[in-house]
Amino acid sequence: MTRRLVLLAAFVCYTSAAALFQVPEAETLHKLAETPSKDVPSDAAALGYAVDFSVSASTTTLNCLKSGGYSVVFTRAYNPSGSGSFDRNSATTIKNANTVGLGVEAYITPQPKSKTKTGAQQFVEVYQGLTSSGIVIRSAWIQVTSPANWYTNSTNVNFLLSMINQARQYGVAVGIYTSYSDWYTITSNYQGLPSDILVWYYNVYASGVTGESAPTYTDFRPFGTWKVPTVKQFAQVESVCQTTLNRNVYTPGIPALAESEVQKNKAPVVGGFIRQ
Ligand SMILES: *[C@@H]1O[C@H](CO)[C@@H](O)[C@H](O)[C@H]1NC(C)=O
Repeated sequence: MTRRLVLLAAFVCYTSAAALFQVPEAETLHKLAETPSKDVPSDAAALGYAVDFSVSASTTTLNCLKSGGYSVVFTRAYNPSGSGSFDRNSATTIKNANTVGLGVEAYITPQPKSKTKTGAQQFVEVYQGLTSSGIVIRSAWIQVTSPANWYTNSTNVNFLLSMINQARQYGVAVGIYTSYSDWYTITSNYQGLPSDILVWYYNVYASGVTGESAPTYTDFRPFGTWKVPTVKQFAQVESVCQTTLNRNVYTPGIPALAESEVQKNKAPVVGGFIRQ
């Protein structure tokens, strides 16, 4: 699985390298035109740009994002409402992203307080929802934010391990979307995760363009098992391509090989676009 991810991730770099310097143009799509545009710091040249949102995206929207220099879209595959359910919007976004040649990753917003479903069961719903839509799932990111949505004891870690173990049984690579502070609060800085699990962290000062942090990893502090991040969300609740979304930078993989890996798959693919 790891090798396949590396191969596939290459596709992202292939597309992002060319598109990277167009990213600032996406800023012009923001409604807050009076906001001074940020210079892209020098070390941002090594990173790709991505967005995340939970609504379903049309090919028109995804083509717009691609033209704006974004290489990957993260789509929500699990809706935590009630006791949680597969989010069908993700199937639409994944298929459309494959159609327009945009990398696509799935994130899971779990329902850790579900009375009826374990972490494993929630992952099964994601897996079955995607595969029954004809989608091959290679990786998924589990959202561990908003402490109010979690318990305040070791149940949280058990829930996470249950979900992660189920994913691994399916051969699906796992990443965690969290922050230093959320991970401390929700898991008491759990350090027992397998070392191949990647971290996607966020840091913003407020919603919107004026609340962005730098699109770099310079503010990353090690926590949990992570010494380096793989994705950073630096902007939340912005409008790009008429879609309300969050913006991210990520570490791209190696170009050409991944592209061929994508072409080998006849079915739409989600995941494996971020370096493993
Ligand atoms: C954690 O807290 C919840 C809610 O108070 C409780 O139902 C559960 O039994 C607790 N779990 C452990 C392991 O203490």
